Amino acid sequence: MSDRFRLDLIRRPRRMRGSIALRALANETELHAQHLIQPLFIIDGDGPAESIQSMPGQLRLTIPLLLEECRELLSLGVCAVALFPKINVDLKSPNGSEALNSDTLVIRAIRSLKSELPEMAVIADVALDPYTTHGHDGLVDSLTRDLDNDATVEILAKMAVLAAESGADIVAPSDMMDGRVGAIRRALDSNDFEKTAIMAYSAKFASAFYGPFREAVGSAAKADAASINKLGYQLNPANRREALIECELDESEGADILMVKPAGPYLDVLRDVRESTDLPLAAYQVSGEYAQIVAAAQNGWLDLDRCRYESLISIRRAGADMILTYFAKAYAQSIVK
Ligand code: PBG
Repeated sequence: MSDRFRLDLIRRPRRMRGSIALRALANETELHAQHLIQPLFIIDGDGPAESIQSMPGQLRLTIPLLLEECRELLSLGVCAVALFPKINVDLKSPNGSEALNSDTLVIRAIRSLKSELPEMAVIADVALDPYTTHGHDGLVDSLTRDLDNDATVEILAKMAVLAAESGADIVAPSDMMDGRVGAIRRALDSNDFEKTAIMAYSAKFASAFYGPFREAVGSAAKADAASINKLGYQLNPANRREALIECELDESEGADILMVKPAGPYLDVLRDVRESTDLPLAAYQVSGEYAQIVAAAQNGWLDLDRCRYESLISIRRAGADMILTYFAKAYAQSIVK
């Protein structure tokens, strides 16, 4: 008998953490490039890429630069992108009519992308905010100042058909109007786009973490762009059950993929949704989640590589199959190194 002090323990969970090999054997969650979707901002013209102040490392790309970027992403194993246009201010209007221009920036971008790189899955956002002067996702009723739900949905369904026509693999309504998934499904099907999938921004919360994105797409001409109030349609951050209702509705209306957004602050919701649906589930690690990690890393306060991994693996662990993240490319690069 050794006289070393020893606890009388049968279970010592640390045993399985004792080496790289044992830790790998017991690893429960994987994160590969194929799980990631890179959101990309696009601009018109053939000038240089534009930097985005509140999203260091992210750029607004012209269509030729977009093609280059997508070639690189594919070579890294990232096979899906979500496109967000920043259109010229003079094309914006209160009713966002540019959204239905069949030659608008994002439509041209999808066409080029799908003809040059057909293997890249392209996700087209469906909402009016890049196109409206007020930055809301739909039509604002001038009397009530509320969004006109059904009139907005009518436009969104047309937008979705345009995106499908241009070759988008997936359309992604991000507006949170009631009934839009069903209306979009019917519109796609009646135009012979029964193969185009719908990724529904189902549980999209009214989040302050969207601030940097609004700078990136210039989704309001006004100074308060970053803090525009969408509480009348996006979910109350206090509500879990309401998120589940939205997910059930989107599933019953024909969504192919459900989404929770933002991701990190809503991991409980992600887990709830994972347990209540068998559909593929997406999570959107949004601009503010990206910005806070990058900003702290730039200050030398956080280790970028490790925080990036940890933020993403947590989202996978909570139940997401796929993650929209501005870190997609950098993460993919970090694992091929
Ligand atoms: C708008 C839209 C937003 C984002 C994606 N689509 C912002 C908003 O609802 O105001 C946010 C994404 C991000 O912050 O990265 N339809």
